[in-house]
Amino acid sequence: MVAKEGNRAVKVAVFSTKSYDQYYLQKANRKHGHGHDLTFFEPRLIERTASLAVGHEAVCAFVNDRLNADVLRTLHAQGTELIALRSAGFNHVDLDVASELGLTVVRVPAYSPHAVAEHALALILGLNRKIFRAYNRVREGNFSLEGLLGFDLYGKRVGVVGTGKIGRIFARIMAGLGTEVLAFDPYPSREAEPFVRYVPLAELFGEADIISLHCPLTPETHHLIDDGAIAVMKDGVMLINTSRGQLVDTRAVIDGLKSGRIGHLGLDVYEEEEELFFEDLSDRVIRDDVFTRLLTFPNVLITGHQGFFTEEAVANIAETTLANISAFESGTGTIHRVTAEKVA
Ligand code: NAI
Repeated sequence: MVAKEGNRAVKVAVFSTKSYDQYYLQKANRKHGHGHDLTFFEPRLIERTASLAVGHEAVCAFVNDRLNADVLRTLHAQGTELIALRSAGFNHVDLDVASELGLTVVRVPAYSPHAVAEHALALILGLNRKIFRAYNRVREGNFSLEGLLGFDLYGKRVGVVGTGKIGRIFARIMAGLGTEVLAFDPYPSREAEPFVRYVPLAELFGEADIISLHCPLTPETHHLIDDGAIAVMKDGVMLINTSRGQLVDTRAVIDGLKSGRIGHLGLDVYEEEEELFFEDLSDRVIRDDVFTRLLTFPNVLITGHQGFFTEEAVANIAETTLANISAFESGTGTIHRVTAEKVA
């Protein structure tokens, strides 16, 4: 493939490749004439697999790839200069070590906030109207409605934690359904103001019928939902997490489900998901007892980190990732750089 005029083809090692990554990255590489030399690796990037990237100037990684100090040092020693994340989140990268090594880290800041916000709504509706249970029943010829009772969303209070790109869209959707939307964000957004009422976090936890998390994972937000937070929530609250697994202390949530304090739980992310998600493990024994305990509750709906997974989002991820690589190589254009101090 011939690279764009003035653009040198960059050798890129793509980790955690699925069929859709390969399809959309190749398509974007052709469509925009980037002409980069993409090598696709199925394994996750971890200490053991980092050597696959030898001789590649760029490494392209996804959310469950491990970019800790050891992996970054190996990549750097092998000649990698650029880490191109196919994600918005970058909590899995040791940014201090990256900057110490002079590695550039870029990300895809927004690919489709609608995809994730709409998925949060899917979890809410699926849980509330018990769609997963109804689907199975009807297939078995069981048309009983026992146990399928839901509630009107209209008139309920929804608490949105984090009113960034995704949280704002989610708030607007929920306002459109006739709910009252409470929000907490250390940096309130003017754009969200028409749809939300900003309140302190404790008030949101205490007042909301449905709580949806849309803040990033940081040291401050780690286990934001713990025993103390659950203790002040309304009985039967619905908790939705499409953000990052470690925002929620899963053991505390299991206690909350057992006591009935948590009435519904919808998760698209899980604390220990890196050993589970994105793989077909259907013929293996799952060793994570906390996760399997979650699966036993009739009022828990879990999806495997698919909030982002729409055609529009996957195409945008591929296009921005390749544009980031071209911008890095040519020194021109927008590059969405992440450093320990600053995020673009
Ligand atoms: P964003 O950066 O636009 O918004 C995050 C918001 O959270 C900001 O307004 C920020 O001020 C706020 N925030 C920071 N600390 C907070 C705290 N302690 N309490 C409450 N709010 C706080 O990010 P965006 O694009 O809206 O994404 C949100 C999160 O969604 C990402 O961090 C990522 O973890 C997750 N995500 C999940 C995906 C999925 O497939 N399930 C896909 C994409 C993102």
